[in-house]
Amino acid sequence: MIFPLLVYLHIAETGKNIDHASDLLLNGGLVAIPTETVYGLAANALNEKAVLAVFEAKQRPFFDPLIIHVPDIESASKYATFQDERLKALAEKFWPGPLTLLLLKQESIPGLVTSGLAQVAVRVPDHELTLQLLRAVNVPLAAPSANPFGYVSPTTAMHVEKQLGDKIDYILDGGACKVGLESTIVGVEDNKLCVYRLGGLSLEELESVAGKLELRINSSGDPKAPGQLKSHYAPKKPLLLGKAEALIKNNSDKKLAVICFGNKSFENNITVFNLSPGKDLKEAALNLFKYLRAADDSQADLVIAELLPETGLGRAINDRLKRAAC
Ligand code: TXA
Ligand code: MG
Repeated sequence: MIFPLLVYLHIAETGKNIDHASDLLLNGGLVAIPTETVYGLAANALNEKAVLAVFEAKQRPFFDPLIIHVPDIESASKYATFQDERLKALAEKFWPGPLTLLLLKQESIPGLVTSGLAQVAVRVPDHELTLQLLRAVNVPLAAPSANPFGYVSPTTAMHVEKQLGDKIDYILDGGACKVGLESTIVGVEDNKLCVYRLGGLSLEELESVAGKLELRINSSGDPKAPGQLKSHYAPKKPLLLGKAEALIKNNSDKKLAVICFGNKSFENNITVFNLSPGKDLKEAALNLFKYLRAADDSQADLVIAELLPETGLGRAINDRLKRAAC
């Protein structure tokens, strides 16, 4: 009798070895790094060839620039200039944390990292292993989310392994990400503080420190708002957004999965992914990408999702769901 192969084969080397990760990065290698938001696919930002390899591994277009990761404000100031005191104040308040700031690029950062833009996106991630790695390498790490371009971001080492394992030298395993949504991106335009991507730091938290911010969230293919392309964060299966009960009725001939929030129940033949039965938005953020992946891997041929309340992290979750929808 022939037994099916049950053992999952690890392709990329995975572990917690900072010295090893650091050596690889300083030699131009690619290392997946854990952060509090999502896993990143890191390269030495000062090494153009390594940065190029990141774009290639992700199949990411060159017009979509990368965030650089540094261990603290001092090292951010080595590679970028805080062109506005309000940005500095936000860094002081929220770094390390899920906030990316658009700062003026200094010479040492290659144009490839910023897609030729004058501003560079900078953040200090709140993850002990990665902070140790950033101090060890002593160069900024350019790291987009560690997923193929356009797909859902990874929140565990295993997600990275499954999708990019054959293209990465090492995965630094820092466990499951504790926020689960990408960082919030903030910059200054026309002398106004603007949010370019909603993410793991809520608008309310930002505004409690900085006053009113303008939302400049783009959902078109406009390269001025790179990375905010409409069909982003998309699962492979079609996803419909709306009231679950009505959509279920209209699609009763299909195998369905439902992504919902709060106290909900559905018929037994429907696969249900409840982001947070107790209506906790932080829990929902943590579960979102995991459940989008699980829905993709399920038997369903159509995924139905309901929007969450448009408050706190709910805004960023809704943004991702809208981009995932067809
Ligand atoms: O939480 C995060 O931000 C994660 C972790 C790994 O740090 N990173 C992440 O990177 O989400 P990525 O590449 O998937 O998304 C970065 C976003 C993209 O929308 C990109 O267009 C935008 O930041 N971005 C990067 N540099 C920029 C720049 N100079 N000007 C405007 N937008 C920029
Ligand atoms: Mg991404």
